[in-house]
Amino acid sequence: MAINSIPMIYHTSSRSSTKPSSSCNEKHHTYCFIVVMKMASSFNKLHILLCLLFATQTTMTRGQTRVDFYGTTCPRVQTIIQATVQSAFQTNPGVAAGLLRMFFHDCFVLGCDASILLSGTSTERTARPNLSLVGFEVINAAKSQIETACPGVVSCADILTLAARDAVVLVPTGRRDGLVSQASDAVNLPAFNDPISVQISKFRDKNLTAQDLVALVGGHTIGTAACAVFSYRLYNFSGTNQPDPDINPTFLPQLRALCPNGGNASTRVALDTGSVNSFDTSYFVNVRNRRGVLESDAKLLSNSTTLAFVQKFSGAMGVPQLNFGVEFARSMVKLGNTELKTGSQGEIRRVCSAIN
Ligand code: HEM
Repeated sequence: MAINSIPMIYHTSSRSSTKPSSSCNEKHHTYCFIVVMKMASSFNKLHILLCLLFATQTTMTRGQTRVDFYGTTCPRVQTIIQATVQSAFQTNPGVAAGLLRMFFHDCFVLGCDASILLSGTSTERTARPNLSLVGFEVINAAKSQIETACPGVVSCADILTLAARDAVVLVPTGRRDGLVSQASDAVNLPAFNDPISVQISKFRDKNLTAQDLVALVGGHTIGTAACAVFSYRLYNFSGTNQPDPDINPTFLPQLRALCPNGGNASTRVALDTGSVNSFDTSYFVNVRNRRGVLESDAKLLSNSTTLAFVQKFSGAMGVPQLNFGVEFARSMVKLGNTELKTGSQGEIRRVCSAIN
């Protein structure tokens, strides 16, 4: 089932601390529900923002993220980013998945501070899980137009966030750019072969719950993985000379055909078989049917809590349902508030690939 509208909780006022809380339910903040309309099951015609439902006002203090943070200082920022993402998307639809994954990898390492964008011999970008990230040129293109329109105002961290938003949903702005980026810090990132207990604890370390984990991994509804990161499951799993028993036997031949033993490790395979271009709940149906591509996807079934969320998001019979669009959006806001630098922390980079 394609998600045609994604209701989104949206902070629009300041926070009084320099480190915004990750909760969407704080009192005294302005909330808007934004509906992100997507043309039925097609990423080609991305989304139109509609429908502000309600808002309450609070005072503004130092250290904040809020929607329309750049309303007066750079009113064109959203238009520029949206146009840049859409134009990149038209040339290469894979950019949407790339930007979403880049946002996740940025937020998980030293917070959402664009440390992922810094170039250098041992920056985060050079860490193994980040080598396959794509979409850097989209951020750089947006930044260069934004610097022309309003120099020194908009952080790379917010450009990446808004670009990921334009790939999927909406999130608040006001982040500043970090000064540090080290490949060694990327150990925080979950790995494709992490057991479920490790996945849960890596998310917990970022104040994200098991529900956030399952909802956010639902990002795998779009995008692809290289054979290199899962073909070990297909032929000789854990030295058994057998495939991973968690793979549905009817799915195994499909995966083997896509990634032959000893074949091209860089061939890319949809993470959501049969529905890679649609932001929908089919990924969860696949996982539930043991058709998850990554071992980490399959492992969502190995814990009663994460299994329950897979069932709820996938529309399994006999369990209370959870709306994936709503929960994904809510969890994205939490992810986007991870270890923020606001106020006088960090800086506004002139170019996203280097500190000033
Ligand atoms: C336990 C957590 C996670 C693990 C272990 C994981 C692992 C991976 C791996 C191994 C790939 C394939 C990389 C490649 O071969 O290039 C991938 C792709 C992807 N991941 Fe995740 N991921 C996790 C969570 C997330 C989250 C939370 C998001 C988004 C919020 C996300 C979004 C994506 C997207 C969109 C792609 C496709 C990228 C593309 O097509 O370029 N992932 N992930």
